[in-house]
Amino acid sequence: MLRVLNVVGARPNFMKVAPIVEAMKRRASAFTPRVVHTGQHYDAQMSDAFFRDLGLPEPDVYLGVGSGSHAAQTAAVMKSFEPVVMEEKPDWVLVVGDVNSTLACALVCSKLLIKVAHVEAGLRSRDRTMPEEINRLLTDQIADLLLTPSRDADENLLAEGIPEHRIRFVGNVMIDSLFSQLKRAEASTVREDLGLTGKDYAALTLHRPSNVDDAVTFKRILAALEEISQRLPIIFPVHPRTRARIAEFGFADLIERVPNLRLIEPLGYLDFLRLYSGARLVLTDSGGIQEETTALGIPCLTLRENTERPITVEMGTNIIVGTETERITRAAFNVLAAPRDKQARIPPLWDGHTADRILDALLEREGNGKGLKGVK
Ligand code: UD1
Repeated sequence: MLRVLNVVGARPNFMKVAPIVEAMKRRASAFTPRVVHTGQHYDAQMSDAFFRDLGLPEPDVYLGVGSGSHAAQTAAVMKSFEPVVMEEKPDWVLVVGDVNSTLACALVCSKLLIKVAHVEAGLRSRDRTMPEEINRLLTDQIADLLLTPSRDADENLLAEGIPEHRIRFVGNVMIDSLFSQLKRAEASTVREDLGLTGKDYAALTLHRPSNVDDAVTFKRILAALEEISQRLPIIFPVHPRTRARIAEFGFADLIERVPNLRLIEPLGYLDFLRLYSGARLVLTDSGGIQEETTALGIPCLTLRENTERPITVEMGTNIIVGTETERITRAAFNVLAAPRDKQARIPPLWDGHTADRILDALLEREGNGKGLKGVK
């Protein structure tokens, strides 16, 4: 029986951990799952809504660390997570993605000689100004089991000198959530509520510090959105970081002058799925949404200069357009002019069964003892 502490911290973690915990509950003779929420995200719409929508059980432990600078937040998670690990004595700690909570919890375990499994290992944007890239690089160095979503991730890890026996290609667990919730999302009335039924519209998310903390870049993006919105309405659920920058930079008036750019509160998992799955076009700087749109065959423009998810460009519907006004608008108009092609080309093992492969990998690793730190 493996006792596994599953860590969640921020919004993009919940849809990765939910299918894993569910699979552990299904395989209760082999796994005892526990859920620790660091509290990195805490607003109802950034956290509780996702627990509800994804059927995640209430966390067994809530650390309540909240917001702060990178150092303060990472340190706060470490300080509060360490006693939990000592008390719970798990066989494995499972961390997902690339947020500050991911690295903080992996680091705590590495010093306590507790085994760590990293889900979504090996992704690299090669942009070290991105806080997530630092979290990815360091977490992968110290984790015992690196569970990758695509083959390019395996290659990145091998190139960094990580031994092959620590790496396991399992596929994309976020797609487990996506496929299992698609039907339920049909009950969401978000399209009707926003008056979008039968209409073409775009969905937008924007929260990367490199885009929204820089007034010049943010303004360039807004100029592109203004042009695109003359062709179709853009629905923009606004992340709290972005909301704060709009106020700080005095952009509220500018945005109000663009009637077809509609700012709304952040949406829960099901409402957001319902929204983007019906969109003619998605514009985003999120990592996960690049993958979700690929899985559904929805055209996606990524407002960044790079991606840690190249398979979404090579196989999927993603186009990297950067943050220059003209490049964004040109790409958007090209998409709108092209025939609608809903034919999704889904990358290997993005099949809705990744959680079970993760559990198999844990059991197998436990069985052969390879890659373990030894002392338990
Ligand atoms: C974090 C992750 C990022 C992820 C994003 C998804 C890191 C380094 N960044 O960025 O990878 O894509 O989450 O949302 O871990 N805030 C609230 N309520 C909340 C949470 C945050 O109001 O529930 C506000 C706070 O003012 C906070 C700011 O948003 O200072 C930013 O939150 P933070 O967790 O620091 O980073 P994100 O930008 O959300």
